Amino acid sequence: TRHLISSADLSRQDIEDILATAASMHDLQRREVKKVPTLRGRTVINFFFEDSTRTRSSFEIAGKWMSADTINLSAKGSSTSKGESLRDTAMTIDAMAVDALVIRHNASGACHQVAQWVRASVINAGDGTHEHPTQALLDAYTLRTRLDDLEGKHVVIVGDLTHSRVFRSNVITLKKLGARVTVVAPPTLMPSGIGTWSETDGFATSWDLDAVLTADEPVDAIMMLRVQKERMSGGYFPTAREYTVGYGLTRERLEALVRRNPGVLVLHPGPMNRGLEIAADAADAPQSVVLDQVSAGVAVRMAVLYHLLAGDDAASGPLTGSAA
Ligand code: CP
Repeated sequence: TRHLISSADLSRQDIEDILATAASMHDLQRREVKKVPTLRGRTVINFFFEDSTRTRSSFEIAGKWMSADTINLSAKGSSTSKGESLRDTAMTIDAMAVDALVIRHNASGACHQVAQWVRASVINAGDGTHEHPTQALLDAYTLRTRLDDLEGKHVVIVGDLTHSRVFRSNVITLKKLGARVTVVAPPTLMPSGIGTWSETDGFATSWDLDAVLTADEPVDAIMMLRVQKERMSGGYFPTAREYTVGYGLTRERLEALVRRNPGVLVLHPGPMNRGLEIAADAADAPQSVVLDQVSAGVAVRMAVLYHLLAGDDAASGPLTGSAA
């Protein structure tokens, strides 16, 4: 594949290859000097039309550690603020012979659209409520590190599913790796049509978090998603208080999970609304792997850039590359 737009673009073997490369990249983080020449001479533009802390900085670090030239652009400070269209913007950047465009955009489908206009590889860094494939890869990497094989493991994803690109990419990726996935949301934040989707794609849905957490099937990992207030123009329902009571990972819920499975893992893609979807006690608990996810983000994005850009240099391996 030349682009990474959706998690569906990746076969199970592609995911395995990326996670294996990420594991060697992750070892770099323990080195004093982290730079390798793997992508020397390649240019990566990170164009973020929406704000980001983790994704943007980890793509920049990933590119830099592999010696690619990385440039960051955002809507503010670019000519997008003067009304330049997405097409003109994409074609302008492509005309500078860049090798990869990492794009975050508030419109679902924006990355797919840009990929039709440019020669560069397009990597989706989150498009509207559609997908966030590198987040799903780093989540899979984090889970694999702790749980080993995901075959048959039960992962529960909880939160504002209507607005969650992380949930969509995760369901696709986790299922390809053999995990059993249950998604939980209040009825008002459950995407319409998910019943049909669920039947065809084989994951369970529920409105009742406590029923899922106390069901016969133990939980191996629980992934809490951010309530995306910025995508709820009319305010949000349930209220914050109701949300926490019904769907928050409170200290009590985490304690109950740990009693049933001491090895349970807590994930959150960040940024977290502490006290809303996740209590501080849960976010900072020994079961929390939130910062492991951030650390994995650099390694996984290095692996994705490598697989898309290394070309003929790939034969020499991810940590060698061309020294030319
Ligand atoms: N998880 C995630 O995408 O975080 P950022 O919005 O900070 O990049």
